[in-house]
Amino acid sequence: MPANIAGSISQAEFVVSAVSAHDFPRETLPEIAIAGRSNVGKSSLLNALTGTSLARTSSTPGKTRMINFYRFQRAFFLVDLPGFGYAKVPKAESRKWKQLVNEYFERRPAIALVIHLVDSRMNPTALDLQFARWLDHLGMPRLIVATKSDKLSGRERDVQRRAISEAFGGEPVILSSAVTGAGSKEIWKRVADAARSVNPRRKSSEQ
Ligand code: GTP
Ligand code: MG
Repeated sequence: MPANIAGSISQAEFVVSAVSAHDFPRETLPEIAIAGRSNVGKSSLLNALTGTSLARTSSTPGKTRMINFYRFQRAFFLVDLPGFGYAKVPKAESRKWKQLVNEYFERRPAIALVIHLVDSRMNPTALDLQFARWLDHLGMPRLIVATKSDKLSGRERDVQRRAISEAFGGEPVILSSAVTGAGSKEIWKRVADAARSVNPRRKSSEQ
């Protein structure tokens, strides 16, 4: 697919900002969730993938506090999860984050993939590894994407890709940049495969 994948062939639309499970969309479609630490580039990746600027981005960490649902081509949801691990967020706020994200993972019937973003410039933090273990525990299919690769030299990219992969037990890592569009095509392929692999109608009728 072309680099601005979404642009010519499809539509992305904002659906809802959920502050609790009560606000989650009634509609069941395959869902691709984008997760990771505050400021890692979740909203920017969503925009790069859809070729839009629907998701608000900011250099101030903790911008996205709600779960934002976008519908893509009327075929699946892209879900921008609030970031975790921002040091200045009070304890009560982190508890709310955990509760909201937990409700998301527990209640949505058709999560096809969780894209776990980490910063390509550093090794995954303890919180990143903890989050990955949580996903494993829940049996969530995941894809690790290392963002902001435009900030690294070619050699550093190789080194960091390997180091990050090792930290996650040898899982493949896609390097991406919302600035250059690097990685978008590969991520898009994984998204499309994952969305196709989930049959929401069967899943929800089994519940
Ligand atoms: P929260 O919503 O606060 O959790 O943050 P987020 O993960 O959604 O991050 P966001 O997309 O808002 O990006 C945070 C900052 O990083 C912004 O200043 C972006 O412009 C910048 N940024 C995001 N992706 C990239 C990238 O690939 N390359 C570069 N150079 N900057 C990026
Ligand atoms: Mg955001």
